Amino acid sequence: RKRRVVFSGIQPTGVPHVGNHLGALAQWQRIVKEAAAQPADSRDSLFFSVVGLHALTVPQDPARLAVERRDMFAVLLALGLADPAGGAVVFHQDQVPEHAELAWYLNTVTPVNRLMRMTTWKSKLATIRNANSEDEIDDSMLQLGLLAYPVLQAADVLLYKTSHVPVGHDQSQHLELARDLAQVFNRAYPGRRKDGKGKGKGVFRVPEVMLTTHPRIQSLRDPAQKMSKSAPHPSSKIFLTDSASEIHAKIKSAVTDSTAGVTWDPVHRPGIATLLQIYAGYSDAGETVEEIAARYGDARGIMRLKEDLAEVVSEGLKGFRDEFARIRTEEGYVVEQEKKGAERAREAAQATMREVRAAVGT
Ligand code: ADP
Ligand code: NA
Repeated sequence: RKRRVVFSGIQPTGVPHVGNHLGALAQWQRIVKEAAAQPADSRDSLFFSVVGLHALTVPQDPARLAVERRDMFAVLLALGLADPAGGAVVFHQDQVPEHAELAWYLNTVTPVNRLMRMTTWKSKLATIRNANSEDEIDDSMLQLGLLAYPVLQAADVLLYKTSHVPVGHDQSQHLELARDLAQVFNRAYPGRRKDGKGKGKGVFRVPEVMLTTHPRIQSLRDPAQKMSKSAPHPSSKIFLTDSASEIHAKIKSAVTDSTAGVTWDPVHRPGIATLLQIYAGYSDAGETVEEIAARYGDARGIMRLKEDLAEVVSEGLKGFRDEFARIRTEEGYVVEQEKKGAERAREAAQATMREVRAAVGT
């Protein structure tokens, strides 16, 4: 078995909700568990990063960003992602300057046209256009950083000679760019072979995308919308840090429909489907959503499902909640872990950058 190098990042946008957890972070936890079970001499290397530089592509309030960076880091620690036995490194991207440095090198081989074709860029353009009364684009809103964001993301991944990147479907176009840039850069700057005889093969490994297949969790207030951090109403989502009583209250008031009894029908009954998906995500029983639905088919089924779901979720998050509360009272501990993570990541990042500079001649 070849050792894998896994990299993934998350923006420091406040405490995650159960959609972020089931959609992304739970996969990271599974990867850490798998690695912890591997023999130490062939264990995968895992890098999980809070990507603060990406957050700067939209306006940020500095005081708030500082809090959200630290919170997200504490969340990743409390989820057990820095488990030392698993060889996992949790770190702040913005504390490892090699990310920005490699992004610059990659900028020099990135066609601007390619970035302008990115769906994320095009949808940003469309949003800005719609926001303006005239059909004119406000140039000041179109920063270079927003356009170049996918190049920074490519740098994040390539810096660790990553072999596997667990991401959602919405990121596959960006990962395609990362793969292409790795190959373009390797061809442009093949370097020298280790024995000095002839051309090398280039610095970068071409990473594979590990598409995460996960349920899309919908809002508890409006089942037509996805559960989202940016939605204003706090009762539309369950935060990982919510207390047991907050979880109970939010689930009790979740919008369902007027049909009695529970059935699995995501198209016609999206509110019920959301509850079932969250149940399946947090239950240890390994039941499918259909099996869970079948247990709540009677007239009082929706009420019973809500009661049991609140139990399942608050139990499922209890370990996290307690650990997060403990960590947050020990400011020194988080700072120490941030430092440790950055040092470990930086060691790998600097090794890659030495090779990049040798290949390029800088
Ligand atoms: P949000 O939309 O809440 O701002 P992000 O865009 O920061 O969340 O996404 C962070 C991660 O969480 C991504 O991998 C994304 O696919 C996943 N994610 C976000 N919302 C949901 C959801 N409602 N259901 C499932 N996964 C989600
Ligand atoms: Na989002």
